[in-house]
Amino acid sequence: MKKRITKAIFPVAGLGTRFLPATKSVPKEIMTLVDRPLIQYAIDEARAAGIKEFIFVTSRGKGALEDYFDHSPQLESELRKKGKDDLLDILKTTNMDSGAIAYIRQHKALGLGHAVWCARRLVGNEPFAVILPDDVIAADKPCLQQMVEAFEDNPTNMVAAMEVPEDKAHAYGVLDVKETKGNVVSVGGMVEKPAPGEAPSNLAVIGRYLLTPQIMKNLDQMKKGKGGEVQLTDAIAEEINAGRDVLGYRFNGQRFDCGSKAGFLQATVSFGLSRDDLRGELMEYLQDIVGGSRAAAE
Ligand code: UTP
Repeated sequence: MKKRITKAIFPVAGLGTRFLPATKSVPKEIMTLVDRPLIQYAIDEARAAGIKEFIFVTSRGKGALEDYFDHSPQLESELRKKGKDDLLDILKTTNMDSGAIAYIRQHKALGLGHAVWCARRLVGNEPFAVILPDDVIAADKPCLQQMVEAFEDNPTNMVAAMEVPEDKAHAYGVLDVKETKGNVVSVGGMVEKPAPGEAPSNLAVIGRYLLTPQIMKNLDQMKKGKGGEVQLTDAIAEEINAGRDVLGYRFNGQRFDCGSKAGFLQATVSFGLSRDDLRGELMEYLQDIVGGSRAAAE
């Protein structure tokens, strides 16, 4: 029988220092891309891929995330009274079935690998997905769905992969490519944040993973990697060293790095332009400022 992936981990325990001071009181994942928080894009993508259990690895100060997925009886009854069915429908997309969502605390930001490991008991002995909500991917077929479909034929560790310019490779986990078959790449090694000139390829790992339960066992060792953090990439690379398969999946779609300010701004413009209700006005404004080099402060 084909293995189905029904559980996804959302590691959201990071400090989000690149967005200070906003992230002093607002979790990064609640920051808004057009009119929805980043986390909503990640949840929608997971749902489309058939995920039924959503595991959040959180930290202190992330209460707004839990509230976001809760019902809001007062707001709902107000909207009902006013006959605002369209807004009620929008709110419904944020509700989670009872028991579908779980929160686990990562008490110290010891790294992405450690954050994933915190969810080991909830994942159990099943393959699972990991989604980093910072990476927002615009695609006709959502990225995780593309990967889950590829996983049905190749049920082994799979990481989303994307070509990056050589001078940007140092910011990513980079794949050593053995063989390419269509969108699937067989991986011979992985290097987390390679020094300039030492990247094994231009294919970088993006924040979507389908992983076997063995990864949790590898993480049990709590080996510290780059930056003194427990790296998920290292735990996946161990599988290659043990002779097991790791695949890269070159997804179709455009990825935005919403963990960085420039990436967030680009996503805002791009998602704004993709909306029928905003395109006209936004386009006119962009043409105006590009033509006249007018910025907000002028
Ligand atoms: P980042 O490297 O983007 O770190 O983490 P960050 O803390 O979120 O942001 P900056 O760099 O300080 O601005 C990538 C993903 O891994 C999670 C983050 O929440 C984010 O989704 N993460 C990272 C954890 O959950 N725990 C950690 O210890 C580290």
